[in-house]
Amino acid sequence: MEGFHWRDGELWAENVRLADLARAHGTPLYVYSRAHIEGQFRALQSALQGLQPTLFYALKANSNGAIIRLLARLGAGADVVSGGEMERAIRAGVPPSRIVFAGVGKTVEEIDAAIARDIRCFTVESEPELERLSARAARQKHRARVAIRVNPDVDPQTHVYTSTGMRENKFGVDLERAEQAFELAGSLPGVEVVGVHMHLGSPLADERPYVEALDKVMPLCRRLRARHPAFRYLDMGGGFGIPYWPRQSPFPLEALARELAPRCRDVGLEVAFEPGRFLVGNAGVLLTTVQYVKDNPFRKFVIVDAGMNDLLRPPLYDAWHEIRPVVPRDGEAIHADVVGPICESADFLGTDRQLPPVQEGDVLAVLGAGAYGMAMASNYNSRGRAAEVLVDGDRAAVVRTRETLDDLVRGECCPDWL
Ligand SMILES: Cc1ncc(COP(=O)(O)O)c(C=O)c1O
Repeated sequence: MEGFHWRDGELWAENVRLADLARAHGTPLYVYSRAHIEGQFRALQSALQGLQPTLFYALKANSNGAIIRLLARLGAGADVVSGGEMERAIRAGVPPSRIVFAGVGKTVEEIDAAIARDIRCFTVESEPELERLSARAARQKHRARVAIRVNPDVDPQTHVYTSTGMRENKFGVDLERAEQAFELAGSLPGVEVVGVHMHLGSPLADERPYVEALDKVMPLCRRLRARHPAFRYLDMGGGFGIPYWPRQSPFPLEALARELAPRCRDVGLEVAFEPGRFLVGNAGVLLTTVQYVKDNPFRKFVIVDAGMNDLLRPPLYDAWHEIRPVVPRDGEAIHADVVGPICESADFLGTDRQLPPVQEGDVLAVLGAGAYGMAMASNYNSRGRAAEVLVDGDRAAVVRTRETLDDLVRGECCPDWL
């Protein structure tokens, strides 16, 4: 994990001790490494250079403005799924010409705002959305560029909640119906067909689902190229997996490029990807402080100050995050569940873990928490969301302050009859 490493028996983010950050900013605290994000972006560009892809960072993975800005400066565009994400991207310096907008439920207001911004492309997920988009664009005397999201019905072999390219999912249009959807798009005054989109699921372990999906959509792409003059690009979505535990293999990007490049060249398509997790997942850790070590006759619990409101992935996806004390103590390992303070049995960060001995006050790092961590955080149990810090070499900056009680109640009002 470039960016985080062990030095003198302690865990560091680049040249900064995580223990020092916990002391200075309190916990729960998200810490991100700039070097890791840059390294991942460059690794992606270099491994996929045979494809010359356009890279749209999927903001849903982590929408902190500093991280978006960092990636925008490296040349990434943005894949957004709401009006809020679109505005965040623009504020962070992503030009609208490098923004693609996906999502099954775009409202009229979101569509109007994106048309007014003249974004690069809408990823359209259904026929009714095509009709709505065309009508709204025509009102503004505009033709919105669209890529229709197709469902190649490929099993990505991942958690059912993050598997999105199967025919029974709510996303996109079945491959069998796709031709008709493109036909409809071609007949509408307010849209112009420029591409085809797919996203199979996340995280994917290897290139096989992408290759299978591509082989399924290629005949459609050939026909679309012949029918729609502006049709030129294939967006294969995100989903590149990352190692969440030691010895887990990295995603084989070179193999993906090797398989995809000749196929895409054959049809003359420009390729795009929408990586999220790959860029930021292992760029972040969640620091949390041990509150109590609780023994009951059946199980030991390490109770910490971060809960499922800070990191939802373990209960939501059965996701596994490695948990390590930032300054491990010597002594006999313990076997315990690491749980949060929230009043839910699902409030755990890790179960059945072997850990070095820990005591109240020790700081633990939950690794691989940069993607879908803070982005999914909530105020459940009236807990303010964590602060976020970005490390760059030997400096560290707060990129989001910890939420206060005032933040928690902002916007609430009481009717005068109470
Ligand atoms: C359409 C789309 N693109 C990109 C992504 C990003 O996926 P990942 O973070 O696994 O790269 C997602 C994730 O849900 C998605 O739905």
